[in-house]
Amino acid sequence: MTFSHGPVILGLESSCDETAAALICADRRILAHRLATQDAAHRPYGGVVPEIAARAHVDALIPLVEAALTEAGMTLRQVDAVAATAGPGLIGGVMVGLVTGKALAMAAGKPLIAVNHLEGHALSPRLADPALEFPYLLLLVSGGHCQLLEVRGVGAYRRLATTIDDAVGEAFDKTAKLLGLGHPGGPAVERMAASGNPRAVPLPRPLAGSADPNFSFAGLKSAVLRAWQSGQWSAADLTASFQQAVIDCLVDRTRIAIEAMESPSALVVAGGVASNQAIRAALGGLAAQAGLPFVAPPLWLCTDNAAMIGWAGAERLAAGLTDDLSFPARPRWPLDPDAQKVRGAGVKA
Ligand code: KG4
Ligand code: ZN
Repeated sequence: MTFSHGPVILGLESSCDETAAALICADRRILAHRLATQDAAHRPYGGVVPEIAARAHVDALIPLVEAALTEAGMTLRQVDAVAATAGPGLIGGVMVGLVTGKALAMAAGKPLIAVNHLEGHALSPRLADPALEFPYLLLLVSGGHCQLLEVRGVGAYRRLATTIDDAVGEAFDKTAKLLGLGHPGGPAVERMAASGNPRAVPLPRPLAGSADPNFSFAGLKSAVLRAWQSGQWSAADLTASFQQAVIDCLVDRTRIAIEAMESPSALVVAGGVASNQAIRAALGGLAAQAGLPFVAPPLWLCTDNAAMIGWAGAERLAAGLTDDLSFPARPRWPLDPDAQKVRGAGVKA
């Protein structure tokens, strides 16, 4: 049903360990958002187990869609399009969401929009802030990615930098695992770091100060391991020092990208790690120094959710971009297909 405020999009997310469904209007109204986290199912293993995740998505997704439709007071046939994450991510989960999206689109007789999960994160700041115009400089920091992107428009990205080894969220998760802080690691490290001294433990800032625009976190991870094994430092001081090292790397690399990009409208941060308050504050400071507005979505919109997938669907629908029911699930799917591959173990970008 096309309300006076434009089409309504059903968004589905299932690429990692959150299952979510949302109904989003093209005028940015969120009619419903339902999310089931799988934290408890994965906690005993200290990380996300792909098979457990895929099964949990199967169980959770349809009830979440039904609950979202009930909350919005709508039927499936009244939805104008179905947007589902089609990658990148854990392939089992992506397939569950995409196949469900195709079935619902077919049942409703409405178009399917196959959304790149990274585009969901990349456009989420425009859901939160209607004033945010293209092009903007985006620092995308999540469990699988750490990239600086010039966001030129819907479907138009130029990658300025990426990690040559670990993603930044992965570095948080591995630090948490090492210190026995549990899963998911990012929020646990942030909580522990709040009572520590960020200057206590000498840790490296890989690539900081270099002309190479990319990120690297593997050396930092190894340094954290050695520092912890030395028994010299408290968990609070080590997590605070780790978080500070990450912040210094992110700020240093982002500063280079600001210089490399021609008149960005704003500095924007998105992705799960963007919910970290210390990181937000540091990037806000950098933007102020550069004379740029700073945009960071609300915390719930940084970590995986279906509102950002529905919103990316709304932006793509407005641009006339819909997809065929034969669209494949993609475990890897770079936003900038022309970006040079970087070499390094574990590179996911
Ligand atoms: O975007 P996201 O929810 O899922 C992916 O697409 O990867 O990001 C999840 C990542 C995890 O590595 C998690 O530990 C990290 O974001 N994260 C945080 C915080 N909250 C989540 N990292 C640092 N500080 C946080 N507060
Ligand atoms: Zn994500």
